[in-house]
Amino acid sequence: MRNWRDLPIWTGGGALPNRLAMQPDTLSDSVQPDSILPDSILIVDFGSQVTQLIARRVREAGVYSEIAPFTQAEEAFHRMKPKGIVLSGSPASVPDEGSPRAPQCLFDSGLPILGICYGQQVMTHQLGGEVRPGHETGEGGEFGRAFLTVTKPCALFDGLWEEGERHQVWMSHGDKVTRFADGFEIVATSDGAPFAVIADEARRYYGIQFHPEVVHTPDGAKLIANFARHVCGLAGDWTMAEFRATKIAEIREQVGDGKVICGLSGGVDSAVAAVLIHEAIGDQLTCVFVDHGLMRMNEAEQVVTLFRDHYNIPLVHVDVEEQFLSGLAGETDPEKKRKFIGKTFIDVFEEEARKIGGADFLAQGTLYPDVIESVSFTGGPSVTIKSHHNVGGLPERMNMQLVEPLRELFKDEVRDLGRELGLPDVFVGRHPFPGPGLAIRIPGEVTKERCDILRKADAIYLDEIRKAGLYDAIWQAFAVLLPVKTVGVMGDGRTYDSVCALRAVTSTDGMTADVYPFDAGFLTQCATRIVNEVKGINRVVYDYTSKPPGTIEWE
Ligand code: XMP
Repeated sequence: MRNWRDLPIWTGGGALPNRLAMQPDTLSDSVQPDSILPDSILIVDFGSQVTQLIARRVREAGVYSEIAPFTQAEEAFHRMKPKGIVLSGSPASVPDEGSPRAPQCLFDSGLPILGICYGQQVMTHQLGGEVRPGHETGEGGEFGRAFLTVTKPCALFDGLWEEGERHQVWMSHGDKVTRFADGFEIVATSDGAPFAVIADEARRYYGIQFHPEVVHTPDGAKLIANFARHVCGLAGDWTMAEFRATKIAEIREQVGDGKVICGLSGGVDSAVAAVLIHEAIGDQLTCVFVDHGLMRMNEAEQVVTLFRDHYNIPLVHVDVEEQFLSGLAGETDPEKKRKFIGKTFIDVFEEEARKIGGADFLAQGTLYPDVIESVSFTGGPSVTIKSHHNVGGLPERMNMQLVEPLRELFKDEVRDLGRELGLPDVFVGRHPFPGPGLAIRIPGEVTKERCDILRKADAIYLDEIRKAGLYDAIWQAFAVLLPVKTVGVMGDGRTYDSVCALRAVTSTDGMTADVYPFDAGFLTQCATRIVNEVKGINRVVYDYTSKPPGTIEWE
C-alpha cells in the first residue's frame, strides 16, 4: 500500500509537508475572550503548499481568517468560533489509509463549508460519497489550466458566473470524486473533473475540484469572496486594525510575563514585528541592533532614531563594525563570507542577550514565503543556493521559544500592518535588504574603504530612483561594487578605478524576479552622477539578468 507520507506534493497524492508540524503553538494554546473575536473563517490545512493563499484571499474579501493544521482544527474551531469553514488541498490521497480527515465537529456545526481539491474529496468521503485515485479511474490527473462549464446557478457564482458559461480555472489533482454524497448536485463540470463544483445548498456545503486561491483561476478570489460574504453572511469589514488587535492578544497570551528579545536588521519585517510586540508587552521587549558596518548610507542612525527616540523601545545598539571587517579581511569566497557574518551575528547577539539577563522568547519577522521556502517537501535536503543569514540558530542555542507574529502574512500585508502601526511610509515602503548587508554586494574582499565607496554610489542610485518616482514600482534596487578595475579618462587624466553595477528588479516575493526596464536616459543620468561624484568608480554597468537564472543579490 502506498503511504501518503512518501508521495509528491500539493494535489491529491503526495508527502504531507513538515509545515504542519511547524505551525505556531499559539494556534492551540491561546484562548481569547469572545469580545475580541472577529467574525472569522477557519481554514483547515491538510498540507497544500498554497493554503496560505486561501487565507489571503479571505482577508482580501475583508473577512478575518486563520489557518489551523487538521490535527489542531477542533481546538481552533472551539477557540475561534468561526462563521464558516474552508478545507484546503493536500498532497495526501483520500483513499489512502491514514490520510488526514476533518474533525467531525465541523460537519456537526451547521456552518457553511467550502472544500477545495482534497477538501472537496475529504468532505465527500466523510459525508458518504466516493473518491477514487486517478490511476484507478484510468483517467490520470488534471494539472494546469482547464475550462469548466457552469451547469446550474449556485450561491458561489452569484453575480459572477451564469449558467452555460465557460470559465478558466486552475486544476491540480490526481484523485477525483466519483460519487457525491447525498444532498449534493453538480453545478459546474469540466472534461477532466465531471464534479468540478458540487453544491448542497441546503446545508451550504460546496466542493470545488480546482484551486480558486491561485491567480491562474482568474475569478477565484471572487468565488472565495462570495463564500465568505454571501454564503457565510459576513460583512467584509475586517481590516488590518483587527489583525493588529488579534495578534496583540495572542502575543500577550503566548508571552505572559516572559522576556522577549528581537534582532532588528533595519528591514521592514523585523521593525514591524518589534513595534507590534512592543505594543503588546511594552518593556518586556528588548531590541538588539547588531550594527555590523555593512549597512547602507545613514541606515544605522535611522534605525536607532526610529526605535529609541520615536517609539521609545528599549534598544541595544552594538557597534561591531571592526569585529566584522577584521573577520572578513582577505576573504573572497561568497559562502565563507556569508557563514562568517551569520555566525558572528549570532555570537554578538547571544552575548548581548546574556548581558541583559537572557530572554525566554526570540521575536522574528518571519513571513509566510520564508515558511514555504524553509521546508523541504521531499523530506530530503534541498540544494543550498546561498546560506541565508538570519538568527535561526539562536532559539535552540539559547533555549528560547519563537514569537513570529507575521508568519501568516505576505510582504505587502506586512507593509499594510506597518502603516497601521504608524511606522513612517518611507520606512515601511523600503526595499528588502539582506542580512549580510553590503558584504554580498562587494564581490571579492570587503574593506571599509570599499563599503564607503559602495554606500555613496548606492545612495546616488536610490536618490535618482526616488526623484524619478520609480521607487515603489521596484522590488529592490541597489548598486554592486565589482572587483574589476578599468581604464577611464577624466579631464585630461587617465583613471584606473572600479566598476559599479546597478541592479533593479520587480518581484512579488523575491523567489523569481524580472529586470526593471529603465529607459536609457535614466541610466545615463545615474552613471554620470556616480562617476562624477564617487571617487573610486569610473565605469557603471546595468545588470540585465532575471531570476532565474541569476539571483537577485550578486553573492
Ligand atoms: P537572492 O539573491 O537569493 O535573494 O535571489 C532573494 C531575496 O532575499 C534577499 N536575501 C537575503 N535576505 N538574508 C536575508 O535576510 C540573507 O542572507 C539574504 N540573501 C538574500 C535578497 O536581498 C532578495 O530580496
